[in-house]
Amino acid sequence: MKILIIGNGYVGNRCKDAWGDEAVIAECHVNNKEDMLALLDKHNPDAVLNSAGVTGKPNVDWCEDHQMETIVGNTKLPITIAEGCQERGVYLLHMGSGCIFYGDSPHEDKKWREDDMGNPTEVTYSRTKWAADLVLSTLENVGIARIRMPIDWMPAPRNLIDKITTYPKVIDVENSVTILDDMIDVFHQLMEKKVSGIFHVTNPGNLKHRETIALYEELVDPSHTNEWISNDDLVKQGLATKTRSNNFLASENLEKIGIHMRDVHVAIRDTMEKYAKAKKEGKSDPVGPTC
Ligand SMILES: NC(=O)c1ccc[n+]([C@@H]2O[C@H](COP(=O)([O-])OP(=O)(O)OC[C@H]3O[C@@H](n4cnc5c(N)ncnc54)[C@H](OP(=O)(O)O)[C@@H]3O)[C@@H](O)[C@H]2O)c1
Repeated sequence: MKILIIGNGYVGNRCKDAWGDEAVIAECHVNNKEDMLALLDKHNPDAVLNSAGVTGKPNVDWCEDHQMETIVGNTKLPITIAEGCQERGVYLLHMGSGCIFYGDSPHEDKKWREDDMGNPTEVTYSRTKWAADLVLSTLENVGIARIRMPIDWMPAPRNLIDKITTYPKVIDVENSVTILDDMIDVFHQLMEKKVSGIFHVTNPGNLKHRETIALYEELVDPSHTNEWISNDDLVKQGLATKTRSNNFLASENLEKIGIHMRDVHVAIRDTMEKYAKAKKEGKSDPVGPTC
């Protein structure tokens, strides 16, 4: 399979590292349909992964003061990429985000389903991601892969392990999360199968930040300490402009097509063991600012 990756950022590069010669990262930005058609004609891919977007620098609060850049990157760009892919008949896997959901779902188990409506009332980043999902999900030959809080064995500023172990104050919350090794494998399978629809690419089970930090202290740095605060304290104490999305996702559509991810507690221990080894060897992924 020949994969064209749009987005030379954190996730795009982790996928390229894993897929090697099977994948190429687009050498230029996509500003209009003609740019996209030129890339498709040059690389002639079997599938496109859209890992481009505007995630905010140094973090997602940046999007609150840069609405137009955020709308262009997260809503207009995916539509432009889809337009080119539809015209050439190429399968597109678009990266969505689970942070279009805030709080518990109306379902008894509190988990959000793939076809539930997003509820991003005030956060610009979340609204722009939801807007793209809303329109792209009407198209055939397009898959939407929503991930949450990526966790990886490779130390990197965008890795959730690095983020929460460097904050002096950490919110005491529980979430659905995405282990990157598993996500990379799922993305590959989705592109091979060329399946349309929305997929929650999150590991089964919920993970508390407390569990991740406990594992970090067990396997990486026993001297680590931090203060615990509530999710509301994040904004009250001026540590963030807008509240963060915390939620649980059900991953029913992957199961339906026979794609499975490891239980989150199995996957996080394996990942933390590899992370400890990578740290000792001085490995790190320099891509992307702290987000
Ligand atoms: N990382 C997370 O925590 C997370 C969680 C859930 C969902 N996601 C989603 O996953 C995707 C990838 O995230 P990421 O963490 O890898 O983000 P990232 O590191 O910020 O990478 C995004 C990349 O998109 C590129 N880009 C922006 N506009 C472009 C355009 N017009 N044409 C081509 N490339 C363009 C950026 O290039 P420049 O730097 O040159 O502008 C950047 O390299 C995004 O859609 C994000 O919303 C991420």
